[in-house]
Amino acid sequence: MSRPLAVICLAAGLGKRTKVSTPKVLLPLCGRTLAATALAAVAPLQPGRTVVVLHHQKAAVEESLQQAVAGQFASLQFVDQGTPKGTGHAVQVAMQALADFAGDVLVIQGDCPLVTTATLQRLRELRAKSGAACALLTARPEDPTGLGRILRDKGGRFAGIREQRDCSPEQLAIDEINAGCYCFDSASLRPALEGLQPDNAQQEYYLTDAVVSLVGKALPVPTLEAADASEIQGVNSLAELAVARRIMQERILIEHLGNGVLIVDPATTWIDQGVQIGADTKILPCTVIGTGCVIGRHCEVGPFAHLRAGTVLEDGAEIGNFVEAKKTRLGAGAKAKHLTYLGDTTIGQKSNIGAGTITANYDGVHKHQTRIGERCFIGSGTVIVAPSELGDHSMTGAGAIVTRGSVVGKGEVWVGMPARKLKMREAGGPAKENR
Ligand code: UD1
Ligand code: MG
Repeated sequence: MSRPLAVICLAAGLGKRTKVSTPKVLLPLCGRTLAATALAAVAPLQPGRTVVVLHHQKAAVEESLQQAVAGQFASLQFVDQGTPKGTGHAVQVAMQALADFAGDVLVIQGDCPLVTTATLQRLRELRAKSGAACALLTARPEDPTGLGRILRDKGGRFAGIREQRDCSPEQLAIDEINAGCYCFDSASLRPALEGLQPDNAQQEYYLTDAVVSLVGKALPVPTLEAADASEIQGVNSLAELAVARRIMQERILIEHLGNGVLIVDPATTWIDQGVQIGADTKILPCTVIGTGCVIGRHCEVGPFAHLRAGTVLEDGAEIGNFVEAKKTRLGAGAKAKHLTYLGDTTIGQKSNIGAGTITANYDGVHKHQTRIGERCFIGSGTVIVAPSELGDHSMTGAGAIVTRGSVVGKGEVWVGMPARKLKMREAGGPAKENR
């Protein structure tokens, strides 16, 4: 589509109804914030300009979004709404930053993270095809409580939006609601925003009133009903966050299952957004896999495993029961099957990490790296205090404490507490410790 596209993401609200101190749009949804998730859905449409409207804890929200999504946008701009006076006011402020823009303006809400790229694209196409000043997204969720109701005239044409608090009992019975996503023509949006008045129960400037002001002028306002009402699940409370999380989790699991990942029990498997898993990998029950993990093919993870950010499993690697890994790389065919913590560690191919091994990566101030080579054999209950290095084919005895700064040479065997090199007889076979 050649027409220029600008996106406005509304994220200035405090989120009073969540009752927590974190700004609502920074609440987590399967490893990404609500706002980052909402913005990630619009990024593939490649908007030339993107304006995020902020106010409450602006610095924290801006920093978080800069880190999470800035790279996906040609131009990402943050504007301060000042005291939020409603969604209409937020768009007025954003349009000041877009004063020189002409084209489509897609408005999304930072607290509605489940709208898909495909739906937003369809909304844009509907506006283009109809030539209307605005196209808006609607849905028929099972429970419309709290949402703006869609009013229609006798001919079924869109006639208005009424917020729940401003609805009559008859209007409350309407099951079609406003999703809060709109595609405007910039030239029609500007004058529509000028006439807004805060004459409603919340005394706010409603963006919905700007949409309604376009009815009866020129062409009718077309609506797009979301095929799946779960797309418009917004987050205004922690209970709604839990519902949104479940929907997002199901989508993620279905995608991996479709890619040939054997998830034995989806009901107890948590996989964040932004995880790569190769086909033929088996994920056993009660496993948690965080954003940014990369898992190859023919791996096995779980049951009861926790893979945290930055963990990479090369093809055929295995992580078993009660194993936690953070920023750790397991080479092809390497295994850590039982009761283990691996933090900031790289492990070469085919190494075996015995039950109860711990890499002590934190000295109370800094995190340090552990390097374990290829085909190593780490005895049960070994503690490796980082930074330490263990060369290829090296071994530790059960219960060895490898102290900070140790360099275990290639093929060496270290035992004891603190672990020392075990002297080998010329002809092989262990001799006595080197004291
Ligand atoms: C809004 C719609 C409602 C729709 C619902 C869908 C209006 C008046 N109502 O209601 O019709 O059914 O979304 O989820 O638009 N925000 C700002 N600045 C403000 C106020 C809000 O940036 O001054 C942001 C919020 O941070 C939030 C979004 O806009 O991300 C929506 O605001 P919210 O107060 O949650 O509106 P709803 O009551 O959900
Ligand atoms: Mg909302």
